[in-house]
Amino acid sequence: MNELGRLEDLPADYREKLARQNLVPLWPSLRAVLPPDKPQPRTRATHWSYEALRPLLMRAGELTPIEKAERRVLVLANPGHGLEKMQASAAMYLGMQLLLPGEWAPAHRHTPNAVRMVVEGEGAWSTVDGEQCPMLRGDLILTPTGLWHEHGHDGDAPVVWLDVLDLPLVHYLEASYHVDGRRQRVEPVRGDRAYARGGLVPAPVFRREAERSGKAYPMLRYPWADARAALESLAADRPQLEAVQVAYVNPETGADAQNILGYYALMLRPGQTLRLPARSPAMMFHVIEGGATVQVEDQRFALAEADTCCAPGYCAVTLSNASPDAPTFLFIADETPLHKKLGVFETRA
Ligand SMILES: [Fe+2]
Repeated sequence: MNELGRLEDLPADYREKLARQNLVPLWPSLRAVLPPDKPQPRTRATHWSYEALRPLLMRAGELTPIEKAERRVLVLANPGHGLEKMQASAAMYLGMQLLLPGEWAPAHRHTPNAVRMVVEGEGAWSTVDGEQCPMLRGDLILTPTGLWHEHGHDGDAPVVWLDVLDLPLVHYLEASYHVDGRRQRVEPVRGDRAYARGGLVPAPVFRREAERSGKAYPMLRYPWADARAALESLAADRPQLEAVQVAYVNPETGADAQNILGYYALMLRPGQTLRLPARSPAMMFHVIEGGATVQVEDQRFALAEADTCCAPGYCAVTLSNASPDAPTFLFIADETPLHKKLGVFETRA
């Protein structure tokens, strides 16, 4: 490959004249922005142990009252981007959020999309667009762009959940902002009840519109009991199936549940090793039940229950479950919907 001219090859007075006119020569930086064959991601494969972070999160509960935090979160920051950037990958933000009994995280809405995956505790709820969603371990709750949401806790032990947002991307686009609101009125309807069975959707008789509910996000809570049952049923129906995985989708359209990040639940059978092909989007893995080894190229992480890790795009990832008798269940988030919409999605052999 041709060696390109460097910035220091240019006379100093010429470089100064360029800078004064807000001009930059491309050739010294061309290889950095268009590297050969494969991107050079800043995202590093990173593992966050729940056992290690939990005491620090509980300490945050002692140090900072909810009124001083609004959202009491420790961000799972990728050192490759610099911790202060608070991002797990180019488009993904991850955070562990703590809500103590009796606390209320006030209503707001914002442009970035979020989901919550409940990690521990009972008695908390999220009210999203007027739907009060109970938060049980393993449940996935959407708080899509623009929808009001608030969190409360009527139980008696701490509740922790994993937040996944497309904040780094929306912030990069200079489109990130929030609006504060008042406590929402809880509506009697709930999408997770109306769409409780796969393949069966509410069929309005008196509605004239072509669309069904007319809602961009008809289902806001995906109970873990249902996702787990779907995986077990799929595994039993297709014993030869290599990857037992379900996607969280909009039940009316079958499209991804959100526009930017994709969400999936994956079951590793006892003793299973699953080799994922290298694909362009970065990925996040979180253990809902069991344990897993995640190998990202030459790095290997042993994930215990409630652990989280991330992998950059264009990397082959191998997942394995060493248990001889128990399945492992993973929650996965990735940047696939974004890459597909932008036309840059790739799978490599
Ligand atoms: Fe929020």
